[in-house]
Amino acid sequence: MTERLDGTVALVTGASSGIGEAAARQLAAQGASVALAARRKDRLEKLAAEITAAGGNALVLTADIGKQAEALSVVEKTVGKFGRLDTLVNNAGLMLLGNIENASTEEWERMIDINLKGVLYTSHAAIPHLLKAAANSPRKVADLVNISSVAGRRARVGAGVYNATKFGVVAITESLRQEVTSRHVRISVVEPGVVATELTTHMKPEVAEINMKPFAGITALEPEDIADIITFIVTRPWRSAINEVLVRPTEQAF
Ligand SMILES: NC(=O)c1ccc[n+]([C@@H]2O[C@H](COP(=O)([O-])OP(=O)(O)OC[C@H]3O[C@@H](n4cnc5c(N)ncnc54)[C@H](OP(=O)(O)O)[C@@H]3O)[C@@H](O)[C@H]2O)c1
Repeated sequence: MTERLDGTVALVTGASSGIGEAAARQLAAQGASVALAARRKDRLEKLAAEITAAGGNALVLTADIGKQAEALSVVEKTVGKFGRLDTLVNNAGLMLLGNIENASTEEWERMIDINLKGVLYTSHAAIPHLLKAAANSPRKVADLVNISSVAGRRARVGAGVYNATKFGVVAITESLRQEVTSRHVRISVVEPGVVATELTTHMKPEVAEINMKPFAGITALEPEDIADIITFIVTRPWRSAINEVLVRPTEQAF
């Protein structure tokens, strides 16, 4: 049984491309008003215009989610505009692969800021609103979905710090789940394998080539495949919590 999201409000971080963009589009199609957060305003405005043209409600929030004040502001502006928050998708992230030996530690800081601290900051700001939504909504439930990765389940050479951030997201998810699940806030984690997005374009091409070699030649998942899973998770009846989903392309062995 699927429940539509009419009357609910969803905040998606990293909605300017890839998985976040696809997720926001699908949540809006299910009837949710969507707040779209990321740094690239033009991309968010384009998506908001598309959602609005299809009869939905969208709010553009330009922010660096790795900064606590901006993450807090995104949550507060969402609630300020739409009056509530039922669904948070912590999707914004960065993958800068490479060995730990001789690494640029500045790249580590950037990944830790967005992949880990960003998840914590938005979650911290959103939890009171999610608890309130779960308590007063006819759906009797609210959702927080974290996007980790296969890299949050399996470490490999060349991915150490990215692995650390994504293992961290899995840990935060499980800990927070135990904290709030009895109060009807479902905390879920989705762990995708390779998805065809802009994620690898933030690395130098030669770094991407070396580190993505194990995945060369496979047909990647599409962002919509992950958006389908996020939408499935948040449209379950309140009694059913999908805690964790690991999803790889069929041809991805590891
Ligand atoms: N693609 C894959 O193979 C794969 C596999 C497993 C997990 N994931 C995870 O999926 C999530 C989404 O990635 P994607 O694959 O869809 O890649 P993407 O197309 O590069 O999307 C990343 C999103 O995060 C946003 N973002 C990055 N840094 C940000 C910051 N400091 N503040 C606010 N927003 C920020 C980007 O927006 P702006 O640049 O506009 O800020 C963009 O919207 C990430 O957490 C990634 O680790 C991806």
